[in-house]
Amino acid sequence: MGIIVQKGNVSIREMEPTKQDFSIFLKWMTDPETMKFWDGMSIHFTYETVIKKYQEHQEEQVEQCIIEYDGAPIGYCQYCLLNAAYFEVPADEYARFVSDGELVYGIDIFIGEVHLRNRGIGTQSLSLLVSFLLKEKGADVILIDPKIHNTRAIRCYHKCGFEDYFIVPRRELQDGIYHDSLIMGIRKEYGN
Ligand SMILES: CC(C)(COP(=O)(O)OP(=O)(O)OC[C@H]1O[C@@H](n2cnc3c(N)ncnc32)[C@H](O)[C@@H]1OP(=O)(O)O)[C@@H](O)C(=O)NCCC(=O)NCCS
Repeated sequence: MGIIVQKGNVSIREMEPTKQDFSIFLKWMTDPETMKFWDGMSIHFTYETVIKKYQEHQEEQVEQCIIEYDGAPIGYCQYCLLNAAYFEVPADEYARFVSDGELVYGIDIFIGEVHLRNRGIGTQSLSLLVSFLLKEKGADVILIDPKIHNTRAIRCYHKCGFEDYFIVPRRELQDGIYHDSLIMGIRKEYGN
């Protein structure tokens, strides 16, 4: 299947419109241990809504990927091209970190298999995705937007080299509460 990047036990491949991928994604989207950090607990996914969401992402050119560990699906990540308006952040804050004409990717990630969290696999997976976007896709900047209370995710992103850029107050509505987002970024110069 379409592996985009692989290192050690971890590989990242394109999500396929198959029963296998839709079913595992549905399992994760109905697990409160994932949903409380993702779309929230008040969104109820079904097999049909998983397919609909997959198709919407395809239309929006959001690249959807499955993370595999030793060949088994364990998580999900996605990436897409961004600008300030699409990312729903203030243009002046964005312009402090991104210059006109730069290629900017936004990413999201989760490890769906809960027992595999806190073992370094998220850091391994995200580092792989970052190196793919910088080296293969020519990204100038990569942005990620954890809610400020998601301290584990923020720790993981710091370990991968992301820096804190700015906070956007009340940017994300989840389960009836508006949460602040921490916009974090990593530039192509990272590691050089
Ligand atoms: C966020 C996520 C992808 C990170 O992957 P992971 O494999 O669990 O992360 P890692 O094990 O590589 O690193 C986690 C780090 O956070 C630390 N950590 C764990 N719980 C923490 C907490 N509550 N607060 C702060 N740091 C915490 C770990 O100790 C580790 O740091 P260390 O290596 O310095 O000890 C994964 O936990 C996950 O899928 N979480 C649920 C969904 C989610 O939050 N997605 C992100 C949305 S922005």
